[in-house]
Amino acid sequence: MSKQRLASLDELPEGGTAKFEFVHDGIRFNGFVARVRGQVVAYENLCRHLPLALDGGDHGFFTPDGRCFVCRNHGAIFEPLTGLCVRGPCQGARLKPLPIEVADGAIWLTDAGSAG
Ligand code: FES
Repeated sequence: MSKQRLASLDELPEGGTAKFEFVHDGIRFNGFVARVRGQVVAYENLCRHLPLALDGGDHGFFTPDGRCFVCRNHGAIFEPLTGLCVRGPCQGARLKPLPIEVADGAIWLTDAGSAG
């Protein structure tokens, strides 16, 4: 597949997030990209507890202190660099990482076909 541009690096300061959609096998999925601790990460926007968006639709992926991701539905806490759920109803599960690269000042989804 061709790469999919997700966001400009300038649009994603530390603690910033951007949501996007991608298609895999004809099915539309939701993802998000975030910059945290100087790194850029991307995951499917899907809690590992129930098939619900992490952010509840409001772009609020981070805990108030900005250290972790939080599921707005039942409060599961995820370590942002690994996607590991460290507290909550899906403790031990991981968010689905999405393959990205940073090039030409932007963040790109490199192979949506390997996700989903
Ligand atoms: S749906 Fe995410 S913790 Fe329940």
